[in-house]
Amino acid sequence: MKGIVLAAGRGTRLYPITKPVPKPLLPIYDKPLIYYPLAVLLEAGIRDILIIVPPGEESTFSDLLGDGAQCGVKIRYKVQEIPRGIADAFMVGEEFIGNDSVCLALGDNIFYGRDDTLKQKLLHAKENDGATVFGYYVDDPRPFGVVEFDAEGKAISIEEKPAHPKSNYIVPGLYFYDNRVIEIAKTVTPSARGELEITSVNNVYLEQEQLHVVPLGPEFQWLDAGNAESLLEAATVIRNLQKESGFMVACIEEIGWREGFLSTEELAAVGEKMKATDYGQYLIALSQRKL
Ligand code: DAU
Repeated sequence: MKGIVLAAGRGTRLYPITKPVPKPLLPIYDKPLIYYPLAVLLEAGIRDILIIVPPGEESTFSDLLGDGAQCGVKIRYKVQEIPRGIADAFMVGEEFIGNDSVCLALGDNIFYGRDDTLKQKLLHAKENDGATVFGYYVDDPRPFGVVEFDAEGKAISIEEKPAHPKSNYIVPGLYFYDNRVIEIAKTVTPSARGELEITSVNNVYLEQEQLHVVPLGPEFQWLDAGNAESLLEAATVIRNLQKESGFMVACIEEIGWREGFLSTEELAAVGEKMKATDYGQYLIALSQRKL
């Protein structure tokens, strides 16, 4: 399975912060936002990753993540010339996906699961046929894709940003698809807001009874760093989770090492390069098995 991080939005809801810096590179507590979706792909055991970036920003992203060797994966970059919508990721990434299945992670979504709960969900999603998305309870679902359930709890529709949501369960920005997603995405037409909606893709799978909607219960936390308020909240949540557990959330080098993508010596070497920081010291401590 291939992995895509979609990180090519204009970030206009965060102006002026994102005028010179793409949103996925903004800090969430002690690491850039893009580490969080990237960590989810690694946690799912995905090693072949495409990051879709805005025009002119390939080197900004590759200065940070290079070819992925620091966490034992292969990272490539491709520009989305125009932000046509999330479903455009499958056209931009068509060649990269090839004949494979694919997991798409939005560049501004943060997932956390206690213990290995997230990993279990991801591994199950990878095994499913068709498409798999998640359902997460929020108080105000109106800015998101919202799932409607029938009396038996079966998903019957997904609406994008409904004025009158039919449930409080939203579809967060993490999607697993079989290879048909490329052809399905090509059939999608722009919505009223002029975008190729991922919700339209999901509804095609739903109509074909090929969409799994997996609930994420209270042991999970999902955060969408879409505006200044949610950026601050996300940073606070991550700091508290890390302080309570003593472990980092979304430390991509750690996950690569635990997955066996990176040797202990390689982990130590990455830590050494950043040894002046808590982040670097954390990697060194891991490599010495002090944590
Ligand atoms: O966060 C989850 C929600 O993400 C879902 O519940 C919605 O169904 C889905 O449509 C999406 O809604 P948003 O309005 O939050 O999407 P947004 O336009 O903010 O884009 C999400 C990320 O994808 C953001 O980091 C920018 C990037 N993006 C977006 C578009 C439209 C691109 O890289 N290219 C694009 O063309």
